[in-house]
Amino acid sequence: MRDSIQITLSVDDLPKHWYNVLADLPEILPEPLNEDGRLERLGDIILQECIKQESSAERLIKIPEEVRELYLRAGRPRPLHRAVGLEKRLKTPARLYYKREDLSPTGSHKVNTALAQVYYAANAGYSRVVTETGAGQWGTAVAYAASLMNLRSTVYWVREAYEWKPERRRLMRLYGAEVLASPSEKTEYGRRLLKGGPDNKGTLGIAISEAAEDSLKNPDTTYVVGSVLNYVLLHQTIIGLEVTKQLEVVDVVPDVMIGCLGGGSNFGGFVLPMVGKVLRGEVKKKIKFLAAQSEAAPNLVKGTYQYDFPDAAQILPRIKGYSLTHEFKMPSIWAEGLRYHMAAPIISYLRDKGLVEAIAYPKDEKAVFEAARMFIQAEGFIPAPESSYAIRAMVDEALKAKATGDERVIVANISGHGFLDLEAYGKVLVI
Ligand SMILES: Cc1ncc(COP(=O)(O)O)c(C=O)c1O
Repeated sequence: MRDSIQITLSVDDLPKHWYNVLADLPEILPEPLNEDGRLERLGDIILQECIKQESSAERLIKIPEEVRELYLRAGRPRPLHRAVGLEKRLKTPARLYYKREDLSPTGSHKVNTALAQVYYAANAGYSRVVTETGAGQWGTAVAYAASLMNLRSTVYWVREAYEWKPERRRLMRLYGAEVLASPSEKTEYGRRLLKGGPDNKGTLGIAISEAAEDSLKNPDTTYVVGSVLNYVLLHQTIIGLEVTKQLEVVDVVPDVMIGCLGGGSNFGGFVLPMVGKVLRGEVKKKIKFLAAQSEAAPNLVKGTYQYDFPDAAQILPRIKGYSLTHEFKMPSIWAEGLRYHMAAPIISYLRDKGLVEAIAYPKDEKAVFEAARMFIQAEGFIPAPESSYAIRAMVDEALKAKATGDERVIVANISGHGFLDLEAYGKVLVI
């Protein structure tokens, strides 16, 4: 038991390849639509190397040695913990494990792809990167990666979250980023929206459009993407590849794997290597892959599997995924990172085929933050509001196991820490 409380990997165990699930899918994933030249224009917005990875058919894609070094500097491999405290509190026969992506320098899994994309940007000769951010975790990861590689960075941050997270704003600026509330005066699209209403609170879709426009207009600049696209999930598979090795160390095949889902990058990165084992017939057990969402943006639960625009201004090509439509009005929640209208094409495909399940929790977030409070008191670590959705789902699955007396193995991904989100805890739990 003692050996399996914290399952660590050595530096030599850090994966040398990312895992590309496209190679194991039974059919080709529906491709983005080329309407009005949008696909050609994409080449002027995002990185060529990433466009190549987006549709690669290779199962294993080499992680450049420089990126592996950056992963080591960021503290990878990360531990997998057995939640012994939580198990005791719940009096569940289930065995609970959680992956520690909260241990990243900036506080979330987002560094895994930020380091890769900014590395490719520097290699391609760009001197500046731009992006959008919702919760602020992605923007911080980009600011951090850009500072390590001496690139300038600009972050368009959904105004609503920009206004209530001054500490994260400072952190991004400490890394040297330019941080703008979106909609902003910097882009044509932002100015147009502000003319219509200066109190526009923004959405992730709007911020994406601003970043894409900025990238299109500035040849020294490229746009780095935080979620949804295949190559972002690819880079994030570093999480699941480590977890797969860690579960082998304790000789365990999970019954349930859980991650929170906004666009799908931490969930995808966490589960896809195991999904691949199932698809290849290497694992015969029926594993429940469960995405935890908010009823404010239940793209996988209530959306339709359809072609839709990833951004509000319709600059990017339409892609196929479960979507609530790009004009859908989503109410505010503290877990801002889960407030996105569309799920990743890969996850959407797997959901359509019945391989992935999803659950959405109420908008008042009380049930979610109560589960997080139990986790904090039992385990000691403070999850990001987004990660708390995965914890809620883990607690619910553990309680189901208790009701049936089932010794299920449940593994959840803690996508980030909540040190800069204590205001959210204070407001929801009234403390
Ligand atoms: C800590 C954390 N977890 C999860 C998410 C959701 O994004 P994704 O579904 O791409 O993992 C975010 C998004 O900002 C986040 O900051």
